[in-house]
Amino acid sequence: MENNKKNYYGSLSALVCDQTKPPGASIDGDIEFYTNELIQRDGIVLEAGVGNGRMAIPLLRKGIEIFALDNSKEMLEIYKQNLIKYNMHSEFMLSDLKDFKTDLKFETIIMPNGSFCLLDRENIISVLNNFKNHLTENGRIYLDFIFPTSFKAGNIHEYDFVCDNDDLIKIKNKSISIDWINQKTYTELEYTRNLENEVQPFTLWWYGVEEFKNILKKLGFKNIQTIKNYKNVKILNLKTLTFIFEK
Ligand SMILES: C[S@@+](CC[C@H](N)C(=O)[O-])C[C@H]1O[C@@H](n2cnc3c(N)ncnc32)[C@H](O)[C@@H]1O
Repeated sequence: MENNKKNYYGSLSALVCDQTKPPGASIDGDIEFYTNELIQRDGIVLEAGVGNGRMAIPLLRKGIEIFALDNSKEMLEIYKQNLIKYNMHSEFMLSDLKDFKTDLKFETIIMPNGSFCLLDRENIISVLNNFKNHLTENGRIYLDFIFPTSFKAGNIHEYDFVCDNDDLIKIKNKSISIDWINQKTYTELEYTRNLENEVQPFTLWWYGVEEFKNILKKLGFKNIQTIKNYKNVKILNLKTLTFIFEK
């Protein structure tokens, strides 16, 4: 077994992410939403949990300066390859969000695609405080939240994924449990390519809107607002709630 760290993206999960959601693949209009917000703002944008650059590369192409951070060296490796492939440049750092350090100050910090829900609840205060320390005065943070509206404990989904180079990756997605008290779901993802096997234990946390607003207020954040489904009123069900708040 190559890797079974909690919520960690190893080489096979990072590869599948890149192949299924390459740079520029918008999820429910998120790239358009962030592009529109960020072209109106100056300064450097920190993308916290940059992944393969699905969001970062199109933002860079619009002239938005991105500092990319991720704690998966496999993901960051793919990000670097995508920078070369798309002829773009950005600074990047391999680090965890709760204790990364740089002298840079960011005008904006973004965490699209529910990455915040991957953070262990016990770490979110450290992450938010660390974000605050790295923001300019009146700097702004955008966090996307997702909710387990369609999670069904016991569901198993198995399928084969064929990569661009014809490699076959077998994927098994097991929805194990939902914990209503502690507000988290647990899924196990298993990736197999020939003799290579990778298990990704995957916990996603969710937060009530008032609950999260109170956390932000306690930490001294202000001008807290929420946006539903990237302002797309055609999507009726709640899919993504973006929290926007300032230092
Ligand atoms: C769902 S992907 C999103 C990637 C990208 N932001 C996007 O919109 O496509 C989440 C990313 O966050 C990274 N990540 C998760 N927890 C992290 C942490 N504690 N510190 C740094 N990066 C983290 C993962 O390695 C992964 O690349």
